[in-house]
Amino acid sequence: MKILIINGPNLNLLGVREKSVYGSRSFEHYFEELKTSFPDLELEYYQSNIEGELINKIHEVGFTYKGILLNAGAYTHTSIALADAIAAIETPVIEVHISNVYAREEFRHHSYISKNCKGCIVGFGLDGYRLGLMYLNNLKPKKLGFEFKNA
Ligand code: DQA
Repeated sequence: MKILIINGPNLNLLGVREKSVYGSRSFEHYFEELKTSFPDLELEYYQSNIEGELINKIHEVGFTYKGILLNAGAYTHTSIALADAIAAIETPVIEVHISNVYAREEFRHHSYISKNCKGCIVGFGLDGYRLGLMYLNNLKPKKLGFEFKNA
C-alpha cells in the first residue's frame, strides 16, 4: 500500500527552524523511524518549497497511491491552487500540521485545503504524521470490503 508524505515550504529545515515551535528533530531521521513502525506500508517522502512542484507531485500520485499525508506549510493559508489539486485527485489526503495553528497567529487559522481533505491532524508535533499513518494503515482492503458490504 503506497503512501506519500509531502512536506511543503520551509519544512526541509525541521530540526533547525524555530525549534520551540517545530522541535529539534529532522524529518529525514523521523521518517526512518516511521518506516520501521509501519513495515506493511510502502512509505515515500517528498519535500518542496515550490508550490507548482507540490501540485505536480499531487497529480503524479493522486490516482494510484492509497493515501497522502500533506503538510503544506504556509501554502495551507494561501493556496487555492493546492486546494484545487487535492479536489482533482482520487487519493485521500490528510492535512497535517506539527504546531497547533489555532493557538498561533490569526492568519494561520484559515486553511484553503481542509475542506478537500479527508481529515486534519493539528498540534501533535511530529506524532501527527504517525497518527495519519495509523488511520491509513487501518484502511486495509479487507476492512474496506467489510465496510462496503454493510453499507
Ligand atoms: C505548519 C504551520 C504553518 O502555519 C506554517 O506556515 C508551517 C508549518 C505546521 O506544521 O505547524 O510552515 O504547517
